[in-house]
Amino acid sequence: MKISFFGSLEKSEQDLFLNSFSGSEISFVKEKLDETNTDLAKDADIICVFVDSDVSKKVLDALPNLKFIATRATGYNNIDCEYAKTKGIKVANVPAYGSHTVAEFTFGLVLDLSRNIIKANNYIRESSDFNYFSGMEGFDLLGKTLGIIGTGKIGKNVIKIAKAFGMHMIAYDLYPDLAFAKENNFEYKSLNDVVREADIITLHAPYTKESHHLINKENISMMKKGAYIINTARGELIDTDALIWGLKEGIIGGAGLDVLEGERELKDEIEILSSPASGRHIEDYKTLLEDRLLIDMPNVIITPHIAFYTREAVAEILKVTVENIRGFVLSNPVNLVK
Ligand code: NAI
Repeated sequence: MKISFFGSLEKSEQDLFLNSFSGSEISFVKEKLDETNTDLAKDADIICVFVDSDVSKKVLDALPNLKFIATRATGYNNIDCEYAKTKGIKVANVPAYGSHTVAEFTFGLVLDLSRNIIKANNYIRESSDFNYFSGMEGFDLLGKTLGIIGTGKIGKNVIKIAKAFGMHMIAYDLYPDLAFAKENNFEYKSLNDVVREADIITLHAPYTKESHHLINKENISMMKKGAYIINTARGELIDTDALIWGLKEGIIGGAGLDVLEGERELKDEIEILSSPASGRHIEDYKTLLEDRLLIDMPNVIITPHIAFYTREAVAEILKVTVENIRGFVLSNPVNLVK
């Protein structure tokens, strides 16, 4: 079997894969996979990718031997799974790896925004002035309403943490878990009601055709003035145009974003801007500019998709990825998506 691993992997991580699949021909490619570098995996039976790879129809068509894709992530919206299925290519993900990891990070963003921690730290580094508090007044979480959109594994952990802060909780999910709601003393409402009533909205739904721009100009205009929004799910859940509009209008008080619409393009920013004729769509430039605008906004905190990134979670991802690839090789596939 030929297995190609895409994306940055530490030496110890590469060693784990080499030892686990010693009978296979293994290659490691530091870059993400997309239609520009399929030649690096052209004979691969198996590819193993991360969320930054773009496993599109074109990529799938360029890999004639491909039989199996293992993503080292929970989300798999970067893989054209429907098309893969038509070609008999199976896809496996890591369904859960410490869902509390992303939930804990979510509260990192909430607390940074509610208590101006990053702002205060930057100020002290620049000034060493311990007498100046201006612009650093925060707000308590106790008694505030948290609107959770998506109450799956991560959303449920967010709810448990919010409960400990004494927050009032309301939630929206396509498939409400009423028993969990009863046990944890929160109510399910419509999406519009959650958006309208929450002081802080936090997104934990997957990115699908249905959830594209779930948060948009129409529902942002319903938000409480000064409400906050947190996104550790996928950038495409929020219409970036509308988010910038809401922030500029003062409808949104601040945003904590671990994910951005078009975040993959941000990694290729220099290449995109220096080779404008490379067949890019005008939308690529627009999203890049909008992401840059967001990064420069003082009431926006942006992190580079690291909500999952703890020692414990990475160990779990690697363990399950090895199991996924081994399962496929031994004709006993596990964690297949759809
Ligand atoms: P999950 O599958 O356990 O839960 C997702 C929940 O969202 C389910 O309850 C589902 O019914 C609900 N849902 C689906 N479509 C919806 C819609 N259109 N509107 C409202 N609710 C909807 O997934 P989990 O493990 O909680 O992860 C959620 C998302 O978090 C993942 O899909 C992934 O995109 C993202 N994620 C981000 C990470 C990061 O590092 N930033 C790491 C891990 C996951």
